Parts: sequence; C-alpha cells; structure tokens
Amino acid sequence: MATRRPAKLEVYQEDHIAQDYDQRWAGSRGAARDLRKRRALHKALAILRSHVEAQGGVWRHQLIDVPCGTGRFSDLLEREGGQVIGVDLATSMLVEAKAKHPKATYLAADLAQLPFADGCVDAMICIRLFHLVHQPAMRVAFLRELARVGHHGLVIDYRHGRTFRSWGRRWRHRLNPAVENAHNPMPKVIRQEIAAAGLRPLAWIPVHRAPLLSDKLLIPCVRQESAPTSS
Ligand SMILES: C[S@@+](CC[C@H](N)C(=O)[O-])C[C@H]1O[C@@H](n2cnc3c(N)ncnc32)[C@H](O)[C@@H]1O
Repeated sequence: MATRRPAKLEVYQEDHIAQDYDQRWAGSRGAARDLRKRRALHKALAILRSHVEAQGGVWRHQLIDVPCGTGRFSDLLEREGGQVIGVDLATSMLVEAKAKHPKATYLAADLAQLPFADGCVDAMICIRLFHLVHQPAMRVAFLRELARVGHHGLVIDYRHGRTFRSWGRRWRHRLNPAVENAHNPMPKVIRQEIAAAGLRPLAWIPVHRAPLLSDKLLIPCVRQESAPTSS
C-alpha cells in the first residue's frame, strides 16, 4: 500500500486553513455549490439505503464521514437519524467541526488505517478527498479501507477527467509539458479502481446538471458480492 501522503493533504493540518475552510461555501456561488453537493449526497444515500432494504438488509443509519473536515455534512447526515461519527486526520479541522456541532462525535484518525472493526457501520461517506490523491494505488487502498468498515457500502466522491476543462488541460500539457497535466481519472479508470477494491457502483450521480462542465461525481457503491437489485 502507498504510504506517502500527498502534500496537498498535509495543508489541512495548518490551523489557518481549517479556520478559513468554510469560507468556500460563503457567498451565493459557494452556497450554490454546497447545495448541489448536499442534494447529490442525499440522493446517493437514498439509493444506497433503498438497495440495502430491497435486498432484505437492515439500515440503521450508522455512518462514518471520513474525512469530515469541519463537519460540513454533519447536520445533513445527522438529520437522517441514527448515529454518525466524523473522522479526520487534521485535529485543526476537528476543532472547527466540534465548535459548530458540539453534540456530534469526532475522532482523529487516518483513512489509511481506521481504528474500527470490519463492517461496524452501515456505510462510509468520503467527500472531497480523492481529487487530492493523484496516486491510483493510494485511492484504491483508501477505497479498500472504506469497504472494510462499511458493512453495506459507501458513498464516494470522485472527479472525473471527461470534462472540457480536463481536455483543455491535457491539450495545453501536450503543447507545453511545463503546464501540469490533468490528474482526474477517466470514468473507465474510476470503474477499475472501484472494482479493484471489491466494490460495485450502484449509480453515477453528477453533482452538476451539465456533466461536461463539471467533473464532480458521487458514487454510491456496494460490495461486489451484494446481489444486483431487480428493476
Ligand atoms: C478538502 S477537505 C474535505 C472535508 C469534507 N469532506 C468536506 O467536504 O468539506 C479534505 C480533508 O481530508 C483530510 N485528510 C487528508 N488526509 C487524510 C487521511 N489520510 N485520513 C483522514 N483524513 C484525511 C484533511 O485533513 C481535510 O480535512
């Protein structure tokens, strides 16, 4: 398993980053982006839950949100009832989360090796992490750890490379190698990574209405051995 953490993930250890983090969702554009992500997350959870119940499984709404950051989704996840634990590597982010949601449960831990038993919660939620992880092996290792702890499955947030922006970036890189190439994996690669972790996607939910303009995707996944839902 890849052990070196990408530098982009380390910045969240810094106090000022954590203190300013929620500014991203301030203002009308930030709030609109946040709302789109919330709607997609709500939909992804509903799809996962419906699948579990259609298979005769029990959904207790026990979730782990990792990385939870400053508790951006704690209210949404808790509104659904059940029990939710927020996990993040950066204690500075957890301090902000606890200040906003004093009654919520947060824990500092590394997604590479979570301190939870196999299948101890219904599902894992992982939002805004994978676009910072440019090594496929590390993404697959993270997916495997999420799959280990989530009894029924998980909701994962990917950014894919089939957008005008990524195409533009790839062309600029071809013309001038000094320009950084696009990092987002193509949908085919995302499918391969999910399969390599023993998972199967239930849906492919674009966060934005115009998928070629936005790379953001939410994917509810179940274990491969889970029977397909008859439709
Ligand atoms: C972009 S933030 C996303 C937070 C939240 N999910 C959201 O949507 O706002 C990325 C978070 O990942 C956390 N992180 C980075 N590496 C991690 C790891 N190995 N295990 C757990 N959390 C990690 C960082 O501390 C940071 O809070």
